[in-house]
Amino acid sequence: MKKKIFVTRKLLKENEEKLKNLFDVTLNKDDKIYTSQEIISGSMNYDGILSSVTDSMDADTILKLSNSIKIIANGAVGFGNIDIQAARQKEITVTNTPDVLTDATADIQILLLLGASRKVYEGRIAAETQNWKWSWDFLLGKQMSNKRLGILGMGRIGRAVAKRAKAFNMEIHYHNRSKLSSDLEDGAIYHKDLKSLFEKSDFLSINCPATPDTKNLINRETLSYLKENTVVGNAARGDVVDDDAMVEALKNGTVFAYGLDVYNGEPKIHSEYLKLKNIFLLPHLGSATKRTRWDMAFRATKNLEDFFSGKKPKDQVN
Ligand code: GLV
Repeated sequence: MKKKIFVTRKLLKENEEKLKNLFDVTLNKDDKIYTSQEIISGSMNYDGILSSVTDSMDADTILKLSNSIKIIANGAVGFGNIDIQAARQKEITVTNTPDVLTDATADIQILLLLGASRKVYEGRIAAETQNWKWSWDFLLGKQMSNKRLGILGMGRIGRAVAKRAKAFNMEIHYHNRSKLSSDLEDGAIYHKDLKSLFEKSDFLSINCPATPDTKNLINRETLSYLKENTVVGNAARGDVVDDDAMVEALKNGTVFAYGLDVYNGEPKIHSEYLKLKNIFLLPHLGSATKRTRWDMAFRATKNLEDFFSGKKPKDQVN
Protein backbone atom coordinates (compact mmCIF):
# COMPACT_ATOMS: atom_id res chain seq x y z
CA MET A 1 0.00 0.00 0.00
CA LYS A 2 1.24 3.47 -0.88
CA LYS A 3 2.19 5.70 2.04
CA LYS A 4 -0.01 8.74 2.60
CA ILE A 5 1.66 12.13 2.25
CA PHE A 6 0.12 15.47 3.16
CA VAL A 7 1.58 18.20 0.95
CA THR A 8 1.09 21.59 2.55
CA ARG A 9 1.66 23.86 -0.50
CA LYS A 10 0.98 23.63 -4.22
CA LEU A 11 4.14 22.41 -5.98
CA LEU A 12 5.20 22.67 -9.62
CA LYS A 13 3.28 20.26 -11.84
CA GLU A 14 6.20 17.89 -12.46
CA ASN A 15 6.83 17.53 -8.75
CA GLU A 16 3.18 16.80 -7.99
CA GLU A 17 3.14 14.16 -10.77
CA LYS A 18 6.18 12.44 -9.30
CA LEU A 19 4.68 12.45 -5.82
CA LYS A 20 1.41 11.03 -7.14
CA ASN A 21 3.30 8.15 -8.74
CA LEU A 22 5.04 7.25 -5.52
CA PHE A 23 2.55 8.04 -2.79
CA ASP A 24 -1.08 8.47 -1.94
CA VAL A 25 -0.95 12.26 -1.81
CA THR A 26 -3.26 15.04 -0.79
CA LEU A 27 -2.31 18.18 -2.65
CA ASN A 28 -3.14 21.78 -1.91
CA LYS A 29 -4.79 22.81 -5.19
CA ASP A 30 -5.64 26.36 -4.07
CA ASP A 31 -2.26 26.87 -2.43
CA LYS A 32 -3.86 28.17 0.72
CA ILE A 33 -1.38 28.72 3.55
CA TYR A 34 -2.65 26.41 6.26
CA THR A 35 -2.83 27.41 9.89
CA SER A 36 -1.20 25.12 12.43
CA GLN A 37 -4.63 23.74 13.26
CA GLU A 38 -5.29 22.96 9.59
CA ILE A 39 -1.97 21.14 9.33
CA ILE A 40 -2.78 19.12 12.44
CA SER A 41 -6.27 18.14 11.32
CA GLY A 42 -5.42 17.86 7.60
CA SER A 43 -2.57 15.43 8.19
CA MET A 44 -4.51 13.17 10.56
CA ASN A 45 -3.79 9.50 9.70
CA TYR A 46 -1.10 10.42 7.16
CA ASP A 47 2.38 8.88 7.21
CA GLY A 48 4.36 11.97 6.28
CA ILE A 49 4.22 15.67 5.51
CA LEU A 50 5.96 17.57 2.72
CA SER A 51 6.16 21.05 4.20
CA SER A 52 7.35 24.41 2.95
CA VAL A 53 9.12 27.37 4.46
CA THR A 54 5.79 29.11 5.11
CA ASP A 55 4.54 26.39 7.48
CA SER A 56 5.06 27.19 11.10
CA MET A 57 5.68 23.83 12.71
CA ASP A 58 6.33 25.02 16.24
CA ALA A 59 6.54 22.71 19.25
CA ASP A 60 2.82 22.93 19.96
CA THR A 61 1.92 21.99 16.37
CA ILE A 62 4.42 19.13 16.20
CA LEU A 63 3.33 17.66 19.52
CA LYS A 64 -0.29 17.69 18.39
CA LEU A 65 0.40 15.93 15.08
CA SER A 66 -1.11 12.50 14.59
CA ASN A 67 1.14 9.70 15.87
CA SER A 68 0.97 8.23 12.37
CA ILE A 69 3.25 11.02 11.05
CA LYS A 70 6.79 9.66 10.91
CA ILE A 71 8.55 12.21 8.73
CA ILE A 72 8.40 15.89 7.84
CA ALA A 73 10.26 16.52 4.60
CA ASN A 74 10.76 20.28 4.51
CA GLY A 75 11.11 21.66 1.01
CA ALA A 76 13.78 24.16 1.99
CA VAL A 77 17.36 24.18 3.15
CA GLY A 78 16.43 26.17 6.26
CA PHE A 79 14.37 24.37 8.85
CA GLY A 80 13.93 27.13 11.40
CA ASN A 81 10.17 26.76 10.78
CA ILE A 82 10.27 23.33 12.43
CA ASP A 83 10.83 22.74 16.14
CA ILE A 84 13.48 20.05 15.94
CA GLN A 85 13.39 19.33 19.67
CA ALA A 86 9.67 18.60 19.55
CA ALA A 87 10.11 16.46 16.43
CA ARG A 88 12.77 14.45 18.22
CA GLN A 89 10.46 14.03 21.21
CA LYS A 90 7.71 12.80 18.89
CA GLU A 91 10.20 10.58 17.03
CA ILE A 92 9.49 12.34 13.75
CA THR A 93 12.33 12.43 11.23
CA VAL A 94 12.95 15.86 9.70
CA THR A 95 14.75 16.44 6.40
CA ASN A 96 15.73 19.53 4.39
CA THR A 97 16.94 20.19 0.82
CA PRO A 98 20.55 21.39 0.84
CA ASP A 99 22.85 21.85 -2.17
CA VAL A 100 20.20 22.25 -4.86
CA LEU A 101 19.48 25.89 -4.00
CA THR A 102 23.00 27.01 -3.17
CA ASP A 103 23.70 28.69 -6.50
CA ALA A 104 20.32 30.38 -6.85
CA THR A 105 20.54 31.78 -3.31
CA ALA A 106 24.14 32.93 -3.68
CA ASP A 107 23.15 34.70 -6.90
CA ILE A 108 20.40 36.54 -5.04
CA GLN A 109 22.78 37.46 -2.23
CA ILE A 110 25.04 39.23 -4.73
CA LEU A 111 21.98 40.93 -6.19
CA LEU A 112 20.98 42.16 -2.71
CA LEU A 113 24.42 43.58 -2.01
CA LEU A 114 24.57 45.27 -5.40
CA GLY A 115 20.95 46.42 -5.30
CA ALA A 116 21.48 48.03 -1.91
CA SER A 117 24.91 49.52 -2.56
CA ARG A 118 24.03 50.93 -5.99
CA LYS A 119 20.69 52.44 -4.90
CA VAL A 120 18.57 50.34 -7.21
CA TYR A 121 15.33 51.14 -5.35
CA GLU A 122 15.77 54.89 -5.70
CA GLY A 123 17.02 54.48 -9.25
CA ARG A 124 13.96 52.49 -10.24
CA ILE A 125 11.62 55.14 -8.80
CA ALA A 126 13.49 57.95 -10.53
CA ALA A 127 13.38 56.09 -13.85
CA GLU A 128 9.74 55.07 -13.48
CA THR A 129 8.56 58.56 -12.62
CA GLN A 130 10.78 60.06 -15.35
CA ASN A 131 11.97 62.37 -12.67
CA TRP A 132 15.70 62.38 -13.25
CA LYS A 133 18.57 63.80 -15.14
CA TRP A 134 22.14 62.59 -15.27
CA SER A 135 24.41 64.64 -13.04
CA TRP A 136 27.81 64.13 -11.44
CA ASP A 137 26.28 63.49 -8.06
CA PHE A 138 23.06 61.69 -9.01
CA LEU A 139 22.36 58.60 -6.84
CA LEU A 140 25.92 57.86 -5.94
CA GLY A 141 26.30 54.45 -4.41
CA LYS A 142 29.11 52.42 -2.97
CA GLN A 143 31.27 50.30 -5.20
CA MET A 144 31.48 46.63 -4.32
CA SER A 145 34.57 45.79 -6.38
CA ASN A 146 37.89 45.70 -4.52
CA LYS A 147 36.28 45.96 -1.07
CA ARG A 148 36.28 43.65 1.94
CA LEU A 149 33.36 41.27 2.22
CA GLY A 150 32.49 39.82 5.62
CA ILE A 151 30.52 36.59 5.46
CA LEU A 152 28.55 35.61 8.52
CA GLY A 153 28.02 31.86 8.22
CA MET A 154 30.40 30.11 5.86
CA GLY A 155 28.29 27.08 4.96
CA ARG A 156 27.49 26.05 1.41
CA ILE A 157 25.73 29.31 0.54
CA GLY A 158 28.32 31.50 2.29
CA ARG A 159 31.08 29.79 0.33
CA ALA A 160 29.17 30.18 -2.93
CA VAL A 161 28.82 33.91 -2.18
CA ALA A 162 32.57 34.07 -1.53
CA LYS A 163 33.26 32.45 -4.89
CA ARG A 164 31.14 35.03 -6.69
CA ALA A 165 32.60 37.91 -4.69
CA LYS A 166 36.09 36.96 -5.84
CA ALA A 167 35.04 37.91 -9.36
CA PHE A 168 34.57 41.41 -7.89
CA ASN A 169 38.11 41.20 -6.53
CA MET A 170 36.78 41.36 -2.97
CA GLU A 171 38.87 40.30 -0.01
CA ILE A 172 36.88 37.63 1.81
CA HIS A 173 36.60 37.47 5.61
CA TYR A 174 34.27 35.20 7.53
CA HIS A 175 32.96 34.17 10.90
CA ASN A 176 31.62 30.71 11.51
CA ARG A 177 31.08 28.46 14.51
CA SER A 178 34.38 26.84 13.61
CA LYS A 179 37.25 27.56 11.28
CA LEU A 180 37.02 25.75 7.96
CA SER A 181 39.73 23.59 6.43
CA SER A 182 42.00 25.63 4.19
CA ASP A 183 40.54 23.82 1.24
CA LEU A 184 37.04 25.09 2.02
CA GLU A 185 38.32 28.49 3.15
CA ASP A 186 39.88 28.97 -0.25
CA GLY A 187 41.82 32.03 0.88
CA ALA A 188 39.12 33.57 3.10
CA ILE A 189 40.28 35.00 6.42
CA TYR A 190 38.70 33.54 9.55
CA HIS A 191 37.50 35.70 12.45
CA LYS A 192 36.95 33.89 15.69
CA ASP A 193 34.43 36.46 16.86
CA LEU A 194 31.75 38.52 15.25
CA LYS A 195 33.20 41.81 16.48
CA SER A 196 36.45 41.37 14.65
CA LEU A 197 34.60 40.40 11.43
CA PHE A 198 32.25 43.35 11.66
CA GLU A 199 35.08 45.82 12.29
CA LYS A 200 36.79 44.70 9.10
CA SER A 201 33.82 44.45 6.69
CA ASP A 202 32.88 47.03 4.06
CA PHE A 203 30.10 44.71 2.91
CA LEU A 204 28.44 42.14 5.16
CA SER A 205 26.69 39.06 3.83
CA ILE A 206 24.36 37.28 6.27
CA ASN A 207 24.29 33.58 5.46
CA CYS A 208 23.82 31.81 8.77
CA PRO A 209 20.78 29.62 9.50
CA ALA A 210 18.00 30.67 11.86
CA THR A 211 18.52 28.86 15.14
CA PRO A 212 17.85 29.87 18.74
CA ASP A 213 21.53 30.95 18.85
CA THR A 214 21.34 33.22 15.80
CA LYS A 215 18.01 34.89 16.61
CA ASN A 216 18.62 38.67 16.64
CA LEU A 217 22.34 38.11 16.30
CA ILE A 218 22.40 41.39 14.37
CA ASN A 219 21.28 43.72 17.12
CA ARG A 220 22.05 47.16 18.51
CA GLU A 221 25.29 45.98 20.10
CA THR A 222 26.64 43.94 17.18
CA LEU A 223 25.65 46.64 14.67
CA SER A 224 27.77 49.08 16.68
CA TYR A 225 30.87 47.01 15.75
CA LEU A 226 30.38 47.90 12.08
CA LYS A 227 32.32 50.63 10.35
CA GLU A 228 30.34 53.66 9.19
CA ASN A 229 28.54 53.04 5.91
CA THR A 230 28.64 49.26 5.73
CA VAL A 231 26.39 47.59 3.16
CA VAL A 232 24.48 44.58 4.52
CA GLY A 233 22.71 41.81 2.60
CA ASN A 234 20.47 39.13 4.05
CA ALA A 235 19.34 36.13 2.01
CA ALA A 236 19.27 33.87 5.08
CA ARG A 237 16.44 34.51 7.52
CA GLY A 238 14.71 37.59 8.94
CA ASP A 239 15.00 36.24 12.48
CA VAL A 240 18.75 36.81 12.47
CA VAL A 241 18.21 40.59 12.47
CA ASP A 242 16.62 42.80 15.13
CA ASP A 243 14.67 45.04 12.76
CA ASP A 244 14.35 48.03 15.09
CA ALA A 245 18.10 48.08 15.59
CA MET A 246 18.66 47.79 11.83
CA VAL A 247 16.28 50.68 11.13
CA GLU A 248 18.24 52.79 13.61
CA ALA A 249 21.53 51.83 11.92
CA LEU A 250 20.09 52.67 8.49
CA LYS A 251 19.02 56.06 9.78
CA ASN A 252 22.24 56.92 11.60
CA GLY A 253 24.55 55.86 8.77
CA THR A 254 26.20 52.86 10.39
CA VAL A 255 24.55 50.85 7.63
CA PHE A 256 24.80 52.57 4.26
CA ALA A 257 22.11 50.33 2.78
CA TYR A 258 20.43 47.00 3.50
CA GLY A 259 19.36 44.47 0.88
CA LEU A 260 17.04 41.75 2.10
CA ASP A 261 14.99 38.89 0.79
CA VAL A 262 13.74 37.48 4.10
CA TYR A 263 11.71 38.93 6.95
CA ASN A 264 10.68 38.43 10.53
CA GLY A 265 7.11 37.16 10.43
CA GLU A 266 6.94 36.88 6.62
CA PRO A 267 5.12 37.95 4.53
CA LYS A 268 4.81 41.01 6.77
CA ILE A 269 7.57 43.57 6.36
CA HIS A 270 8.63 46.01 9.08
CA SER A 271 6.85 49.28 8.25
CA GLU A 272 10.05 51.36 8.44
CA TYR A 273 11.70 49.17 5.81
CA LEU A 274 8.93 50.27 3.47
CA LYS A 275 9.65 53.93 4.13
CA LEU A 276 13.44 54.05 4.02
CA LYS A 277 15.20 54.75 0.75
CA ASN A 278 18.48 53.03 1.55
CA ILE A 279 16.91 49.63 1.34
CA PHE A 280 16.50 47.04 -1.39
CA LEU A 281 13.69 44.56 -0.81
CA LEU A 282 12.78 41.31 -2.51
CA PRO A 283 9.92 38.95 -1.58
CA HIS A 284 11.86 35.79 -0.58
CA LEU A 285 13.10 34.93 -4.08
CA GLY A 286 16.34 33.21 -3.04
CA SER A 287 15.47 29.85 -4.56
CA ALA A 288 12.92 31.12 -7.06
CA THR A 289 14.03 29.62 -10.36
CA LYS A 290 12.12 26.79 -11.97
CA ARG A 291 15.12 24.45 -12.02
CA THR A 292 15.84 25.09 -8.36
CA ARG A 293 12.24 24.68 -7.24
CA TRP A 294 11.99 21.42 -9.19
CA ASP A 295 15.17 20.17 -7.61
CA MET A 296 14.10 21.17 -4.10
CA ALA A 297 10.77 19.34 -4.30
CA PHE A 298 12.36 16.32 -6.02
CA ARG A 299 14.91 16.20 -3.22
CA ALA A 300 12.20 16.34 -0.55
CA THR A 301 10.40 13.55 -2.43
CA LYS A 302 13.58 11.46 -2.50
CA ASN A 303 13.91 11.91 1.25
CA LEU A 304 10.36 10.58 1.69
CA GLU A 305 11.06 7.71 -0.69
CA ASP A 306 14.26 6.71 1.12
CA PHE A 307 12.63 6.96 4.51
CA PHE A 308 9.69 4.75 3.60
CA SER A 309 11.93 2.20 1.94
CA GLY A 310 13.79 1.82 5.21
CA LYS A 311 16.89 3.87 4.35
CA LYS A 312 18.16 6.84 6.32
CA PRO A 313 17.29 9.88 4.22
CA LYS A 314 20.39 11.69 2.99
CA ASP A 315 19.17 15.03 4.34
CA GLN A 316 17.98 14.01 7.80
CA VAL A 317 18.62 16.91 10.20
CA ASN A 318 17.58 15.42 13.53
C1 GLV B 1 14.61 29.07 1.50
O1 GLV B 1 14.46 30.05 2.10
C2 GLV B 1 15.14 27.84 2.02
O2 GLV B 1 15.52 27.75 3.19
O3 GLV B 1 15.18 26.88 1.25
